[in-house]
Amino acid sequence: MAGIGIPDTLKGRSFTRVSAWSPDELRLALDLARELKLERSRRKELRLLPGRTVGLIFRKASTRTRISSEVGIAELGGMALYVPAADLQLARGESTRDTALVLSRFLSAIVIRTFAQSEVEEFAEYATIPIVNGLTDDSHPLQALADAMTIRERFGDLTGVRVAYLGDGNNVCNSLLRIAARTGMHVVAACPQGYRPDQTLVAACREDAAATGGSVEVVDDPREAVRRAQVLYTDVWTSMGQEDEHERRLSDLAPFRLDEEKLELAGPDAVAMHCLPAHVGDEITAGVLYGDRSLVWEQAENRLHVYKAVLALTVR
Ligand code: CP
Ligand code: NVA
Repeated sequence: MAGIGIPDTLKGRSFTRVSAWSPDELRLALDLARELKLERSRRKELRLLPGRTVGLIFRKASTRTRISSEVGIAELGGMALYVPAADLQLARGESTRDTALVLSRFLSAIVIRTFAQSEVEEFAEYATIPIVNGLTDDSHPLQALADAMTIRERFGDLTGVRVAYLGDGNNVCNSLLRIAARTGMHVVAACPQGYRPDQTLVAACREDAAATGGSVEVVDDPREAVRRAQVLYTDVWTSMGQEDEHERRLSDLAPFRLDEEKLELAGPDAVAMHCLPAHVGDEITAGVLYGDRSLVWEQAENRLHVYKAVLALTVR
């Protein structure tokens, strides 16, 4: 349609985690996202999903995921339906299975933002439409796709790019490690003891990396991690749902702040990334976030393009 070819290979598939898609499938999404970004810059209308309605079921706050989802589906000629989970019968005990079965009769896809990864997986098991993970406590695959798109735009390729993640080994870190390993990047996560990404996940990422020529390391010295890195990435130290731990996290994670010194240590071509929302002065300094080596705003925009690509590829 309108010069953009959408293959059938991913139709009906869910995107519950980065590892749900093969390296080739991830690259397909990245290629389509690039095309969609270009067409949008030309103000071309691409009604790839006319008459489709996508449900957004959210249990947590969101700016980027919610708005890029609503705008993205509208730009593809469909309609978004935002539903706080608290307003559904789910909140009064209706099962995930029944909710998934019923909503599959009305909607063409569902984006879910919730706490437990298992809730997204359960939706995907019973729904007959694609389920897209809009963030859980364990993963944030749409963010990882946008991150990979942004890195590829900057460096021309993903293979061999050196990424250092600093701070909390959280959902965003997990998905970044996964996509880095699946696309042949060299990624180092510098996280203090107690904040390291899950060991099983790291082991699985290493298996992926062995096949793609990438590598995955976890260290506790942020300076060691940033030396020679081309991308310095950080995320909030207190994720949604961890507010009670805020004070402890502030002091434990302070040495991992993404600041000017670490950017200097990395080298003159290194860039800074952050999935946002940022907490200036905590995990990132204002100078880095708003500086000329920040890719953060492009990275945020790319959420829209990857979301549109995922929907265009999966929705029937
Ligand atoms: N990065 C991200 O997912 O932002 P939101 O929480 O605003 O959706
Ligand atoms: N790690 C953060 C990401 C927000 C987009 C959180 O889960 O709150």
